[in-house]
Amino acid sequence: MVLDRHKEGDTFFHFGTSFSEGVKDFSLEDSLFLVDRCVYDMYSDRFEGKKLCILSAGEEEKDWKSCDPVIRSLVVEGIDRGGRLIVVGGGSLTDLGSFVASIYLRGIEIVLVPTTLLCMVDASVGGKNGINFLGYKNILGRINLPSSIIWDLSFLESLPLEEWSCGFSEIIKYGCLFSHNLWDDLLERGGIDFYRHHPGVLEALIEDCVGFKDQIVREDLNERGSRRFLNFGHTLGHAIELSLGLPHGEAVAWGMCFAMWLSVRETGLSVDYLEKLPVLLKSYGLLRTPIDRIVGANIEGIRQDKKRDGGRIHYILLEDIGKAISVSLSFREIEKAWLEFIHNFPSLIVKGAQY
Ligand SMILES: NC(=O)c1ccc[n+]([C@@H]2O[C@H](COP(=O)([O-])OP(=O)(O)OC[C@H]3O[C@@H](n4cnc5c(N)ncnc54)[C@H](O)[C@@H]3O)[C@@H](O)[C@H]2O)c1
Repeated sequence: MVLDRHKEGDTFFHFGTSFSEGVKDFSLEDSLFLVDRCVYDMYSDRFEGKKLCILSAGEEEKDWKSCDPVIRSLVVEGIDRGGRLIVVGGGSLTDLGSFVASIYLRGIEIVLVPTTLLCMVDASVGGKNGINFLGYKNILGRINLPSSIIWDLSFLESLPLEEWSCGFSEIIKYGCLFSHNLWDDLLERGGIDFYRHHPGVLEALIEDCVGFKDQIVREDLNERGSRRFLNFGHTLGHAIELSLGLPHGEAVAWGMCFAMWLSVRETGLSVDYLEKLPVLLKSYGLLRTPIDRIVGANIEGIRQDKKRDGGRIHYILLEDIGKAISVSLSFREIEKAWLEFIHNFPSLIVKGAQY
């Protein structure tokens, strides 16, 4: 079922459909399917008779070198300007595939089939693509909307638990930023298992999250204003992800705790939310990293944040659940608050565990 038709040049959203139904109208002759190797190994029957490029995916593979086999396959398979690249995988592959499609022949059509929860609720939506280079994350990339996104939730059946947690880290972020109802639902439903056992509720959750992101993207495609709110938890998150090598969702979970800590000080956010956030995150398999390791994180990477302005950083904080605000803070202020945070926050986690 196609749920939404955007204006010309934007994206068709296909919810409640299967992969084969979603792609059936695309000519096989003109389409190259770029597939995550892990996904191909588990669902190879879905790709019979199609032109394929199968690639190992992951953050380490999201680089220039991995673009080479994709470009070669497009050339060898004779995909011309009327053709398309259909990417089937998680966020690292949809970012890379969309990047290649946006430069091949100065841009061909892109179709995305997200296969991780994180990619379904976040990475596939909004047209940002990118690859890493010289250790810098997403330093090469464009904003280029896909023509279609196809959500087939059956791909999630094989998703490892830790990848579910990474997806829920972004879902909890949407709750903090946009919706008290979502925040309450996530607390009440108490963990990943509930959603895995209630596919209808999971599908509605994914559609809601896509709706939150799509709304922001429509307002601010090029991230000059409200799209920056989506970076909630990511300023510190990216710094400790890089410093400690944590999975993205886990790093963002710590980043959200610190942003809430700052919010209580800077905007007067109720401390009740700061106490509840670790409960919520832990129930979705996050905040697993021992605090001793977090204490050792080097937060210098914050200085590289894309929202910096001279010596100051536009930090995304909350005035309330569902009400984000950007606050300008110096690196010294952030560093001082970080030291207080790592000293005091562990007692909140212990308290939280007793909820
Ligand atoms: N473009 C954007 O707006 C945007 C937004 C958020 C994140 N991202 C990017 O997304 C990436 C993270 O995405 P991700 O978490 O999907 O990571 P990923 O693509 O690395 O996938 C995570 C792991 O899951 C495996 N996998 C994928 N689908 C599977 C399935 N159905 N069953 C079993 N295993 C499966 C992959 O092989 C990989 O090992 C990062 O590179 C991040 O920068 C982009």
